[in-house]
Amino acid sequence: MRAIITGVGHFVPDERLTNQDLEQMVDTNDEWITTRTGIRERRILKQGKATSHMAVQAATRVMEQKGMTADELDLIIVATSTPNTLIPSTAARVQDELNARDCWGFDLSGGCSGFIFALATGSQFVETGRHQKVMVIGADKMSAIIDYEDRNTCVIFGDGAGAVLLEPSEAEDAGIEDFIHRLDGSGHKHLNMPAGGSEMPASQETLDRKLHYVVQEGKTVFKHAITEMTEVSSRIMERNSLSPKDIRLLIPHQANLRIIDAVARRLGLDHDQVAINIQHYGNTTAATIPLALSEAFQEKRVTPGDWVLMTAFGAGFAWGSVLLKWTLD
Ligand code: COA
Repeated sequence: MRAIITGVGHFVPDERLTNQDLEQMVDTNDEWITTRTGIRERRILKQGKATSHMAVQAATRVMEQKGMTADELDLIIVATSTPNTLIPSTAARVQDELNARDCWGFDLSGGCSGFIFALATGSQFVETGRHQKVMVIGADKMSAIIDYEDRNTCVIFGDGAGAVLLEPSEAEDAGIEDFIHRLDGSGHKHLNMPAGGSEMPASQETLDRKLHYVVQEGKTVFKHAITEMTEVSSRIMERNSLSPKDIRLLIPHQANLRIIDAVARRLGLDHDQVAINIQHYGNTTAATIPLALSEAFQEKRVTPGDWVLMTAFGAGFAWGSVLLKWTLD
């Protein structure tokens, strides 16, 4: 039994935060942001709405495409670093908002690799025959944990969500073909949000010291991202006997255009083999890959039988690759 993607959708908020807007907020400029990151604008979810709102919209688009109801879902996995609340899970909020009455679900915390980790996880439940319909969502409201006075991070991140439906297939050569995922926790110090968890619970001091925001050593993350995404992607291609020309589309995590270009170049892929939408949305963390996949599908850049390679790197450090044979027409 194989797990195949039978539906894909995404949602981004209407409100845009452009480089010109950011010029008014911190000491930065459009030229720096564009040349150093490739980002021109990001979407920002309104105050009062949380990650589950975007996750529900993305999942609803998938179900509309499929003509199915939420009651058919067996499992909902929400990859996110910005849950609505620490307790309960965002998956619980999504289940409730969708009114999915016959399922279970959980959140998966994998930072920017959250969606590809969730895809590998969800596919196991389908391949074993345990579940028939698994909704895998990547959603993040990064604007909730970004300091808009810190130019090192506020120019990079945005909000969004993407979702896919996994179902079983009898076909032997289809769907989620392979994955290589990795975790190296020694990297935690280079990219994290210091307070708000059990290590440093919220207090007046953590608020005063602005410890509830994402901090990162950009250069260190940058170097590791290129090396590690290239390494797992090369390895997965090699062990599946694929050469660069066999890959229809690389869907890389959208953190920085220079990282994407470097990975694609090292893998021997041409520009038209790479999905890029970072200019519109910035880094939406767990949402980047399903968002780019959904747009690529809408633009008919993937057709049945195509090899699609996904790769991500992020906080943890956590990284990986998923190789799949596309099936959706
Ligand atoms: N606007 C203008 N100048 C800025 C700036 C901004 N928004 N942010 C930093 N700078 C300045 C720095 O202060 C530094 O100035 P200095 O040379 O006078 O000290 C200079 O630009 C270069 O900074 P640096 O951090 O070396 O830039 P960079 O080329 O490494 O780009 C990132 C910074 C964050 C864009 C880049 O490192 C990156 O994308 N890292 C990976 C991020 C990532 O993937 N994070 C999410 C996890 S997936």
